[in-house]
Amino acid sequence: MRTCYLDNGSTSFPKPKAVADAVYEYMTGVGANIGRGGYESAYSAAEMVFEARQLLTELFNGPDCKNVIFTKNITESLNVVLKGLLKPGDRILVSSMEHNAMMRPLVQLMAKGVEFDRIPCREDGSLILEELEPLIKPNTKAVAMLHASNVCGTVMPAEEVGRICKEKGLFFILDAAQTAGLIPVDMEAQNIDVLCFTGHKSLLGPQGTGGFILKEHMIPLIDPLLSGGTGSISDSEEVPSFMPDRFEPGTMNLPGIMGLRAALLWHKEQGMGTVLGHELDLTEAFIKGLEPLEKEGLLRIAGIKGREGRVGVVSVLPAKTDPAELAFRLDSEYGIMTRVGLHCAPSAHKTLGTFPAGTVRFSFGYSTSEDDIEYALKAIGEILHGD
Ligand SMILES: Cc1ncc(COP(=O)(O)O)c(C=O)c1O
Repeated sequence: MRTCYLDNGSTSFPKPKAVADAVYEYMTGVGANIGRGGYESAYSAAEMVFEARQLLTELFNGPDCKNVIFTKNITESLNVVLKGLLKPGDRILVSSMEHNAMMRPLVQLMAKGVEFDRIPCREDGSLILEELEPLIKPNTKAVAMLHASNVCGTVMPAEEVGRICKEKGLFFILDAAQTAGLIPVDMEAQNIDVLCFTGHKSLLGPQGTGGFILKEHMIPLIDPLLSGGTGSISDSEEVPSFMPDRFEPGTMNLPGIMGLRAALLWHKEQGMGTVLGHELDLTEAFIKGLEPLEKEGLLRIAGIKGREGRVGVVSVLPAKTDPAELAFRLDSEYGIMTRVGLHCAPSAHKTLGTFPAGTVRFSFGYSTSEDDIEYALKAIGEILHGD
């Protein structure tokens, strides 16, 4: 049976060959740890990790390579940043579209006296910007928000939110899980104080890679969540205050970072915007193909209908079939891989009016073809028409 991977919102697949090659080359040809050994292969590995930091700094217009911290994913990044920054009595604002990678650390922090509130969003997932300022109170410290919804692809107005944060003296933390590598993210122009990213989605790196980038003034404000050996100032039992060692204890995921470095070089070669243009062409064709089914009352498309203000993630709520059944039949009868349910984002589904049933999510990538879109549309049509 033909297979068709439409779950790139979860993790991108396939990765460019150069990414897999880089992991293999590191594991078979270099292998050494960084910051620990005084020999050639250790220096060469350190140089490549430094280049990965440089590429990320360039991609996000970050302040300095040393302020790029590697983690195993954006969930870890958000945990380190939120738990290290927020103290009892602090308040933080998030959108009503957040992923649980944001919400669960905040709910844990609530038990320690941290408050949060949600900036409401419309039924298409877009932020109601005017609702932000009235929610700011004297103890509000930051706004933390995803850049694009992992449920319906709606993009948030990062620049406007960054501007308001700057005017009001709040820190702005951006979760770029669904946009890094796709949509320009500029820490300067968008006034982002902390940029969190994951390596394995649109950045096209291996799983187990991610990180965050801090503006200089944030460094002393975030208490490191983890501490341990860094290979530096080994005569001291204190956590180093300098970067990146302050936030990078323990042996790093070097095979993953080598793959991520190759992925960043791949993006540089393609040029920013190429992949997004391709994904939006496919998204537009997919939505156009779904609209007759929506008119027939067989499904509802959640989120924005056009190609503007979105990424290539489309959620569908079947009207007469259980979403789980649609996803199961797409997989078992057509080999189409999607993601069904609440996508770790109950608050987003409440906003979109698709809670608690959830949706079937189709998410496209650089290697998704027009033919894949036609095939998926045909399959959805046949299943929902009961053919
Ligand atoms: C918006 C958003 N934030 C956070 C995450 C968590 O990503 P990871 O599993 O790589 O930590 C995801 C993953 O789906 C996401 O879409």
